[in-house]
Order: sequence, then C-alpha cells, then structure tokens
Amino acid sequence: MTQWDKTGLSLFVPRMLLFAYLGYRITEYGKGDDIMANVLYVRANPKSEEHSNSSQLANFFISEYQKHNPDDTIDKLDLYTADIPFLDVDVFSAWGKFASNDELTAVEREKAERMDKLTNQFLEADKVIFAYPFWNLSLPPMLKAYIDTICINGKTFHYTEDGPEGLVPDKPFLLIETRGGFYSEGPAAELEHSQSYIQGVTRFIGIQNQHAVIAEGLDVDEATRNASLEKAREKLAELARNF
Ligand SMILES: Cc1cc2nc3c(=O)[nH]c(=O)nc-3n(C[C@H](O)[C@H](O)[C@H](O)COP(=O)(O)O)c2cc1C
Repeated sequence: MTQWDKTGLSLFVPRMLLFAYLGYRITEYGKGDDIMANVLYVRANPKSEEHSNSSQLANFFISEYQKHNPDDTIDKLDLYTADIPFLDVDVFSAWGKFASNDELTAVEREKAERMDKLTNQFLEADKVIFAYPFWNLSLPPMLKAYIDTICINGKTFHYTEDGPEGLVPDKPFLLIETRGGFYSEGPAAELEHSQSYIQGVTRFIGIQNQHAVIAEGLDVDEATRNASLEKAREKLAELARNF
C-alpha cells in the first residue's frame, strides 16, 4: 500500500462514517412528530352536516385539530355518498375465484378492487376518526358495510394458533357518537351495541390507541342537549391537542 493509499483511506473512512451518521439523523428526523400526518375522517350519516350533531362535533374536532396540526391532511370519506360495496353474491363469488384462480366478471372485479382500495386507505391513514349517530341501539348500516370492507382475513387480521391477531399498524383512533338517550350507564347500558362493537372490532384488527367522545341525551330536552354537546366539545378540544 502506497503512502497516498494510506492517506486516502484515513480521510475516506471518517468521511464515510460522518455521512452515514448524517444520513441516519435525517432518517430519524423524518420519523419524528414533525412529519405531516394523513387523517382519515369517516362520516356515517345521510343527513346534511348542518343538521347532524355527530357531523357538527366532528367538524369542531377537525378545526381544533388543524389549529395544532396545520400541515396535516384530512381525507374525508362520506359513507352515504361514496361507493361502499356490500358483502353480496358478487363479492363472495370474487373471493371464491381468487382461491380457484378463475376469471372474475367485470362487476366482481370492480367490487373487489373497490374493497381493496378502501382497505388500503384505512391501512395507510396515520389517524382515523369515525363520526355517526346511534340508531336503534346500534350503528348506521353503511358504517357496518364499511367495517365489513376493511376486515379482511390475511390483510387486516389473521388467525393464529394463539387466536386472532390484528395486522393493522396501531394508530390514534377516535369515535364520535351522538345519542338521543342515555346508554353509558343505567338501565339501558346493556342495550348499547355501537361503541362497544366499533371499539371491539377496531381493537380486533390491531388498533389499541382508542379514544371515544359520546354525546348522550340529545333528544331529552334543550338544556340536557346543550349541556351534553358543550361537554363533548370540551373533551374534543382537549383531545385535539395531542391526538
Ligand atoms: C333512525 C333513528 C334511530 C334512532 N335510534 C336511537 C336509539 O336507539 N337510541 C337513542 O338514544 N337515540 C336514537 N336515535 C336518536 C339519535 O341517536 C340522536 O338524535 C342523535 O343525536 C342523532 O345524531 P345526528 O344528528 O348526527 O344524526 C335515533 C335516531 C334515528 C334517526
């Protein structure tokens, strides 16, 4: 090895270490809180936003959230105007044909691809918000249809010898629900089949970072309604700081 080689190497090695370190720092910086987040807002209500308590609360939360996160993007999915496939004969036929490697019809392909797109959108979101009303002790059917599109065995969960396992990367999840009466405690508590179901199914597919703001008693009387909405807004404003 010549003197030149030795000098070149002695300069080269520390420089490479420096570049490697800087590259590592830049990558780590990109992973930090400063990075922009993509928030998926799923609205499940056929009513116009101005006539919907749950949508009004969701809009309030989003405007508070944006004050703290002005660069984040909000991707809104309106389940009553978007194309949300039901689990019907075409979907089951498409799933059967995937397994047998048969040719799908145009309709089967269209529905399967749409479901895949919705599932990917849910998987890729950094944070998710659901806003919907309590209907007949449960949730609006389009929200159930949406949940059916994103619960895909092998993609968002799978079964193991130790039981089912969620495959969705954990992320902040907020549900905003409005109710005419009271179900969080008291005699009607056992009739609540919306919050418990949605939190159960989202946990099942992997989301443990759960938040829920429920405004109850909205159809009791004006005073109860105003107090309940005010309390919900307070909780949402607080949550918007760190969601
Ligand atoms: C079809 C329908 C079914 C409802 N079922 C219930 C119910 O089972 N229990 C209840 O407390 N409120 C029920 N409500 C009242 C709504 O939950 C309540 O008015 C809520 O604030 C509506 O939210 P929104 O304004 O976002 O639509 C029902 C309302 C509708 C339209």
